[in-house]
Amino acid sequence: MKRDEIRFEFRGALAETVGDEHGLTPNEWADLARETSAIVGRLNASRAKTPYRDLPARPALSGCAEVAASARAKEGEFDDLVVLGIGGSALGLTALATALCPPYWNHLPPEKRGGRPRLWVMDNVDPAEFAAALDLVDPERTLFNVISKSGETAETMSQFLVALDLLEDCVGAAWKKHLVVTTDAKRGILRPFVRAEGLESFAVPDGVCGRFSVLSPVGLFGAAMIGIDIEALLAGAAAMDKQCSEADAARNPAAQGAAVQIGLYRKGKVMSVLMPYAAALKDVADWFRQLWAESLGKTRPDGSQVGPTPIKALGATDQHSQVQLYREGPNDKVFTLLAVGDYGAEVPIPEPPRSVKGLDYLAGRTMKELLQAEERATLWALGLSKRPATRIVLPRVTPETVGQLLYMLEVQTSVAGEMLGASTYNQPGVEAGKEAARALMGAEGTIEDPAAKGLPPDAASYADLRKRIEGN
Ligand code: PA5
Repeated sequence: MKRDEIRFEFRGALAETVGDEHGLTPNEWADLARETSAIVGRLNASRAKTPYRDLPARPALSGCAEVAASARAKEGEFDDLVVLGIGGSALGLTALATALCPPYWNHLPPEKRGGRPRLWVMDNVDPAEFAAALDLVDPERTLFNVISKSGETAETMSQFLVALDLLEDCVGAAWKKHLVVTTDAKRGILRPFVRAEGLESFAVPDGVCGRFSVLSPVGLFGAAMIGIDIEALLAGAAAMDKQCSEADAARNPAAQGAAVQIGLYRKGKVMSVLMPYAAALKDVADWFRQLWAESLGKTRPDGSQVGPTPIKALGATDQHSQVQLYREGPNDKVFTLLAVGDYGAEVPIPEPPRSVKGLDYLAGRTMKELLQAEERATLWALGLSKRPATRIVLPRVTPETVGQLLYMLEVQTSVAGEMLGASTYNQPGVEAGKEAARALMGAEGTIEDPAAKGLPPDAASYADLRKRIEGN
């Protein structure tokens, strides 16, 4: 059977659509094609520096077989899966679940979920929200998956301690059966705990940072537990890997995406809006927002600062919230609309009653036709007001096409990082806040390599850091 392939279209970002000032001219496009081709060549030659790129093709690295077997073994055993994690340890799984499970998954009766558990991705430490979620689940029928690459993030560690306490209270000695840990193979606080207690665990592969880890056990275990076909997801990503390895930018959608985004960033389009026209893809926009922001928002070695600001939107909802600004506000954005061919469901729009006038144009059409018309209309209207816009078309939202989409956006981010001269895979700006919060919560001891964590280089200990913050 022929694979569904996603398609990247960028005519709406070219000068022929939006003019020379706001779009890419043929000369600019030719330069960008050369620049991105060279970058793709360099990335291909140094794949060891981007281990996330091997996840789709290397089952051992992605942990695919392991997580699938583990999920199978647990079938029917748990009513709820509670994932404890934040940032890159949470957003990928949320994106997969929203895209690939039926809508309102947690509200469906068990038989409609095929006996699969409800999913709660707890990515915050809001006490009201966390306590309310724990009240909704029965610990005796709940599996907790704590996910932290570093194994030290304060938010996740506090959730973990609360969950552990709850399990010990409710299931006593059986608590180990209710906890799966996903963390670095060697580093962090969680790994020695896993070893000491003999817990089930998965490794976040070496060199794969959180926001690039969706196709590792970080995203795959939860996905397998809720019945997503993770092999098909990886197969989609592997197919996209071939395209994204093409040195010829004309055949490489990730290179083209980066060329549009960064080419226009250099022309003052400093914001990037991702606007899916499918509720299923709304959390892909949230996932991408982190990927783009945390990878590209950087201070470069020469002290200059770069980074396009990602914005998430949803069509058609945000047409009635944001599009006024997008079309008539500052022309500083580049748009990516996500279009879907087949939504897997159809809602026909009935004839209006005789007493309702003026709705004949809707009668006999469908909601799919309306949403698709809205997407095409928005693309056209953006062009009319000289706003550069691209679209990615998914024939259907399936594990294959979502695998292609996520992977394409990951490689686009890698290429964009090279174009900007950004250190794509670190996040010193996040680390500083993490360390400072830890200091305020009473952590003791020395801080290793404070400069690499974005802290003043002479911030030697948590006590010292605490003093500086409280002295402010
Ligand atoms: O993308 C990243 O690396 C970050 O967003 C992390 O995922 C986030 O800070 C959570 O870190 P950890 O998984 O170490 O708990």
